[in-house]
Amino acid sequence: MALYSEKVMDHFRNPRNVGVIENADGVGEVGNAKCGDIMKIYLKIDEDIITDVKFETFGCGSAIASSSMATELIKGKPLNEAKELTNKAVAEALDGLPDYKMHCSVLAEQAIIGAIEDYYGKHLEKRKEN
Ligand code: FES
Repeated sequence: MALYSEKVMDHFRNPRNVGVIENADGVGEVGNAKCGDIMKIYLKIDEDIITDVKFETFGCGSAIASSSMATELIKGKPLNEAKELTNKAVAEALDGLPDYKMHCSVLAEQAIIGAIEDYYGKHLEKRKEN
């Protein structure tokens, strides 16, 4: 059996939603201290719906495939659903990752949560200003 599923290879070779969103409503950045890989997620949010999402990942193939799949899974979704996305769900959607690569999908889960928290934080500040 191949080490990586076809889906992992597809999302690694043709990652979806790569890039930056200028003036994003929420940005999340996480890194893994062990491997040194970094993932950044940008969200555009309209009335609690994720209308656009982009990512930049400086990392291994599994991290790139995980970011790509995770962005596909949360695009168009309400924030409360996106918040619940687990790294397991990302790995399952990719038809699995090798055990020792599961931590790569954790970056996607954490970066999305970070971006959503960033959005909530900015919103609270705005509300305080008004
Ligand atoms: Fe670092 Fe995959 S080895 S995220």
